This record gives sequence, structure tokens and C-alpha cells, in this order.
Amino acid sequence: MAENQELWKEAILSLKEKKRALILAHNYQIPEVQDVADFVGDSLELSLQAQKTDRDLIVFCGVYFMAEVARILSGKRVLMPVRGAGCPLANMASKEKVLKMKEQFPRSAIVTYINSSAEVKAISDVICTSANALRIVELIPQEEVIFVPDQGLGGWVKENSRKTVHLFPGFCPTHFRLMAEDILKARALHPEAKVLVHPECRPEVRKLADQVLGTGGMLKFAKKDPSGSFIIGTEEGLIYRLKKENPEKEFFLASPLLLCPNMKKTDAVALLNCLKDETGEVEVPMEVASRARKSLLRMLELS
Ligand code: 13P
Repeated sequence: MAENQELWKEAILSLKEKKRALILAHNYQIPEVQDVADFVGDSLELSLQAQKTDRDLIVFCGVYFMAEVARILSGKRVLMPVRGAGCPLANMASKEKVLKMKEQFPRSAIVTYINSSAEVKAISDVICTSANALRIVELIPQEEVIFVPDQGLGGWVKENSRKTVHLFPGFCPTHFRLMAEDILKARALHPEAKVLVHPECRPEVRKLADQVLGTGGMLKFAKKDPSGSFIIGTEEGLIYRLKKENPEKEFFLASPLLLCPNMKKTDAVALLNCLKDETGEVEVPMEVASRARKSLLRMLELS
């Protein structure tokens, strides 16, 4: 088994060099995929890596909207090992539903979470991620905002901003499985541990946390904080990097239900086949891409 793993790892790395490809992986990807990636990170970091690469091809291990962003920002060919890896949260907002909300609140800026389709990004004023949402809302000139599509992150922004925030009613099914009782139970079991939860969690869960952070923020916080243990309220894939980068610390997943089936669809075999056959190309119509690019660049300028 270990021998097999070494073989496919070597095959992926040599094909990657031959094809001048960049392998990007989100923090929630399975360990074998994280281990062969050129870069593992959160949504904002991955967007920046895609934008600045000089490689000819990007192979994106994550979910569809992330690969779409890589395509839009890099202009390079982007392949996904498993095209069916989608994001149910991103699929909750259609262009029509968002425009209907805009009719209701015409003075509002449309601030759209990166977990959204390119079509919705194209009708947005600016994009944000979990790492910069509050900053972006504070920096734009409009006093009123429609936050699309996540009511978790949007609700957290609303609680922490003096601006008027109208929430689109989308949610992440994985983060919404984490309940306040899970945090209370985990705290009772590990009273010394600090609780870190993703802003996509329910408001009552966020209220019980010591820190509300995106995946990149959690990695930075766990490294610099003197605590020896942490309860983690986000998708379980992040635990691998947390443990790898902090071997002397302990990490407890806040609920066994924190598992995103889409993030688990990509494995090393799919990645190898994708690189070999160059399948799963992500395409975004030019008109949509150029408008979505504008709102993404606005985010990068304000970050
Ligand atoms: P991060 O940008 O915090 O990694 O979040 C990505 C995501 O999709 C959370 O569900």
C-alpha cells in the first residue's frame, strides 16, 4: 500500500513537471491530495496563487466555484479531477434570485461570498472570502449591503459592522450540522481547549466560540496561540494540516458530522488521471468571466 502511494505520488509529480502544471488544493482536501499539491490554502490564498502563477496549466483540487475563480483570475487552462465536486451553498443563489433582492434594496451594494457561481459574481459589486468579509464591507462606500449567499458569514458581518446588511438565505449544509450542544459537550470534555469555529456556522454556535475564523485564520491562530489544545468547528480536512504544523498541540473536531462530501471526492487516482488525460476542463463564458473578474479584482484591491 505504502509502496503504491509512493508510485502514484512520483507519477503525479513527474507529469506535473512535464506539463508545467500547478496543483492547488483547498485546506479541506484529503491528506494524500494535500501532500502532492504545490500549494494548500484557504479560498483567498488559492485565488492569489492562481492569479500569479507562470505555469501553463492549473489542476484544482477543491470544489467547482474555486476552480472557476482560478480560471477567471489566471486566464490559464484549469482542470478539475472530479467535475462533480460542487458546493451546495454556491448553488443556492441564482442570478435571478439575487437581482430580485436588489429590486427590494436598490441602494445596496451586492457583496458576494466567493462560494458562489461565476454568474452571480458577474452581477456583484465586490467578492469576499471568510478572511476579508468584514474588511470589504467596511471599506466599500455604500452604507447598505446585500450579502450573498451565506447567512452564516453574512450574519457574522452584520453582527460586527455598523452598516445595514440584508442577508440572502443560503447556508452551508456541513457547517449548519454543527449545533450549540456539540460545542457545550466538547467544552465539557476538553475544558482547557480553545474553541475556533468557521463564520459559516450558526449564530448560536458562533456565540459560544473563543474565535470565529476562516480556515487560514484558524491555522495562523493555532500556531501563535499559547494554548495546547483546540476544538475545531469546521470541515474535518483542516485537522490534518493543523496537526502536521503543530505536532505538540491537540485538535478535537467539534462534531463527527463536519464532513463535506464534495471536498472528499478528489483522490490521488483522480488527480493522476486528470493530469494524464487532461480532462475536466473548467470553462466560463467570456462575458461572464470578464464581469466576474472585475468584482474579484475589487476584492483583491481591498484585501
Ligand atoms: P475558507 O476560505 O475559510 O477556507 O473557506 C472555504 C469554504 O468553502 C468554507 O466552507
